[in-house]
Amino acid sequence: MYICICSGVTESDIKRCVEEKGIEDIKGLKAELGACDQCGKCVPEARRVLNTCHRQTMIEKSGLKAA
Ligand code: FES
Repeated sequence: MYICICSGVTESDIKRCVEEKGIEDIKGLKAELGACDQCGKCVPEARRVLNTCHRQTMIEKSGLKAA
């Protein structure tokens, strides 16, 4: 699913950034993918996806199971 239409960035792109590059914030997404850097309408949804992916990655690294 596209999160940032202006830059053609998908949820999978964001997930990959979190997992492989440790991106944790919108600033990192802008630098890495060019996302959220034009109209800005995607920022709330991009932040939600970032937080969800980051939380999931931390859980996986810790060896805990998600609730
Ligand atoms: S939809 Fe992401 S900057 Fe416009």
